[in-house]
Amino acid sequence: MGHKLGIIGYGGMASWHHNSIKANFTDLEVVAAYDISKERLEAAKNNGLIAFETAEEFLSSHLFDIVLVATPNNFHCDYVCRALEAGYNVVCEKPVALNCEELDKMEETAKRCGKLFSVHQNRRWDKDYRIVKQAYEDGLVGKPFTVESRVHGQGGMVHGWREFKVAGGGMVYDWGVHMIDQMLDMIPSKVVSVYANLHCVRTLEVDDYFKLVMRFENGITGQIEVGTFHLVQLPRWYVCGDGGSLVINDWDCNGKIIHTKDTVMNWEPVVVQTKAGPTRTMAPRPADTLEEKPLPDVETSWSSYYRNILDTIDGKAELIVTIPSVRRVLKVIEACFESDRTGTGLKTDI
Ligand SMILES: NC(=O)c1ccc[n+]([C@@H]2O[C@H](COP(=O)([O-])OP(=O)(O)OC[C@H]3O[C@@H](n4cnc5c(N)ncnc54)[C@H](O)[C@@H]3O)[C@@H](O)[C@H]2O)c1
Repeated sequence: MGHKLGIIGYGGMASWHHNSIKANFTDLEVVAAYDISKERLEAAKNNGLIAFETAEEFLSSHLFDIVLVATPNNFHCDYVCRALEAGYNVVCEKPVALNCEELDKMEETAKRCGKLFSVHQNRRWDKDYRIVKQAYEDGLVGKPFTVESRVHGQGGMVHGWREFKVAGGGMVYDWGVHMIDQMLDMIPSKVVSVYANLHCVRTLEVDDYFKLVMRFENGITGQIEVGTFHLVQLPRWYVCGDGGSLVINDWDCNGKIIHTKDTVMNWEPVVVQTKAGPTRTMAPRPADTLEEKPLPDVETSWSSYYRNILDTIDGKAELIVTIPSVRRVLKVIEACFESDRTGTGLKTDI
């Protein structure tokens, strides 16, 4: 049986969902939309959807069995709960909510109504992330001790509702939520401490730069850095283990893994003279003791997210983006704000 989807908030991301579903699915069709903007309702009509002018009419129509909530972040909780109460399965855009209290309400409603409720954490299927995850799981850098994940923009701008606190704006909620989600998805260990520092570099009230350091119980240091004003950009991923180092430079997944050739140390470092003085510890290795390996070849697609949603509704699969997994991310986000507010690292049990 095919499924039908109705969208609340037919903006930029919702249009992406619409086009991607059209291109990738024969058993899922987007049929309707509700938006507060007349212009966006017009766009929905022009794209072949039934456009509703009120949420009540949209929710009582039952022309679809799944609702996607893709409004600004501060409206997620209310619309998700209303859609669940009206009897729909619900997919919500990220971040699922602004805090754990909202999420508790959403989860309780989903359980009571007996409906599927998931969050579009599509970046669990990003190619760069999947490569790092594969390298991690296959031990391609040995036992990792540090994982750095970065997104550096150059524009120095945050657009529209993302500029405002009340709407759930800022980079922690925007890119941060994806990058924290990826790191928690990859590293199977508790987060035992969180330190975060947020800045308003070119914004007035929401963070447009943050650095977050998580310490995992298994010893790994996870660092996430997001900013919008980096005129010199650092690599997307940098992972070091006791058996090698990995770098992914960009979205195109250019990068490499470097190993040492010798398992037994048969190279005696000598003191080298540098402009910063003599050093032996930081002397470069001779090139013939190093071996470059390609990054693992990984096939992935964002449409796997909706495939899993449909298969879960049809009883053929287990839900991948579960509510407990997004609650952990939200707990880290809450700890980030608290760490920034108090100016200290926090002990956590996440
Ligand atoms: N998963 C991803 O990769 C990804 C990427 C971009 C955005 N998003 C998320 O998608 C959501 C929407 O972001 P966007 O970039 O599409 O924003 P957008 O501003 O382009 O679209 C939001 C739409 O919601 C409508 N809207 C605003 N208030 C509303 C209300 N109270 N009721 C109904 N409609 C309302 C607006 O008119 C607009 O059409 C956000 O939660 C954002 O974080 C996710």
